[in-house]
Amino acid sequence: MTRPYRLLTNTLADNPKSWLVTGAAGFIGSHLVQHLLQLNQRVVGLDNYSTGRKENIDSIRDAVGSTAFSRFDMLRGDITQMEDCVRACKGVDYVLHQAALGSVPRSIAFPQQTHAANVTGFVHMTQAAHEAQVRRLVYASSSSVYGDHPSVEKVESRVGKPLSPYAATKRANEDWATAVSSTVGLSMVGLRYFNVVGTRQNRKGAYVTVIPRWLDHMIHRRQPEIYGDGANSRDYCPVANVVEANLLAATTPNVSPGDIYNVALGQRTTLDQLFGLLQQALGAHGISCAHVTPHYTAPRPGDMAHSLANLERITEGIGYQPCHPLIDTIHEIVKETVETLATKAHSPSIHLQSTNRNTPERTP
Ligand SMILES: NC(=O)c1ccc[n+]([C@@H]2O[C@H](COP(=O)([O-])OP(=O)(O)OC[C@H]3O[C@@H](n4cnc5c(N)ncnc54)[C@H](O)[C@@H]3O)[C@@H](O)[C@H]2O)c1
Repeated sequence: MTRPYRLLTNTLADNPKSWLVTGAAGFIGSHLVQHLLQLNQRVVGLDNYSTGRKENIDSIRDAVGSTAFSRFDMLRGDITQMEDCVRACKGVDYVLHQAALGSVPRSIAFPQQTHAANVTGFVHMTQAAHEAQVRRLVYASSSSVYGDHPSVEKVESRVGKPLSPYAATKRANEDWATAVSSTVGLSMVGLRYFNVVGTRQNRKGAYVTVIPRWLDHMIHRRQPEIYGDGANSRDYCPVANVVEANLLAATTPNVSPGDIYNVALGQRTTLDQLFGLLQQALGAHGISCAHVTPHYTAPRPGDMAHSLANLERITEGIGYQPCHPLIDTIHEIVKETVETLATKAHSPSIHLQSTNRNTPERTP
């Protein structure tokens, strides 16, 4: 049987639409833009480049070619400014709202900025989308809304108390979406992303996520820090699956106020297992770090011990099937990382480390 997503891509390619992707210069947003352009769609991007990067836009152009890229209009703007949201929504069929400030630690350190982007910005986007009469707004929520709910497997209807300001902003988005859909009739679907992984994740700064941070350490023979004892687990979701979920959610015919779906792979990977997968992938790309061991430290405030998505609702509701496996994505990330580091520095240190397998390990 043909996958629902395959059927959708055929329909879209024959009947192109206009899409707004907010957070287009970011990790997930840039993959959405690239995929939509490859499907012959017209795309507007909106970003203030607070965590997004121009290199991600350059990578989109390299991947799709100049003809497809000419269907892309990238706007610099801020969702905390209503006029930027109005400008971006003009003439758009679907909005995929990704712009937000991620990271639990950042939300604890900078709650006002997080609230402004994630809550005020969200309210502006729903208002602008409603005024522009878009067909639907799909927005990025997060598995963090499950908070302290004790069950390992997360089911959409059962959430606990938020464990961080970031989680509270995503929870607020979901409540706002339900209220706006049922009052003004804007069609909205929320997607609770679990830990999304893929190329173009930010590799710099204080709020780098686990894979880029560990890879940097492992390549330079430093011990990556694992919060907790390594047994904590996550449902790491390749970004290609997230792209598919967004397009399915945008175009599925029947939605109700408050519709919300888990988006994940549906598999648990412990932090120790993830470390092992990265070690193997680096080895396959010529960088031996077999002697690098993790450094275990205390769990971070606001982190959940385990999370695994139940995918029944999204499978039944919109025909989502996570077809892209974790291991392939890990190899793509490692390849991107190794290539970037090598070209940037003509990296003598990396060359040295990849060829000299007896180099002693350094501790941080
Ligand atoms: N990556 C994950 O694992 C994950 C998990 C759960 C939820 N999410 C959510 O998915 C969305 C995308 O996350 P990502 O990982 O691609 O993060 P990202 O930081 O790479 O992308 C977010 C983008 O939004 C932009 N942005 C931030 N504030 C803005 C503002 N005020 N105006 C305009 N643009 C702004 C940033 O510059 C960036 O390009 C976010 O809403 C995030 O909360 C991500």
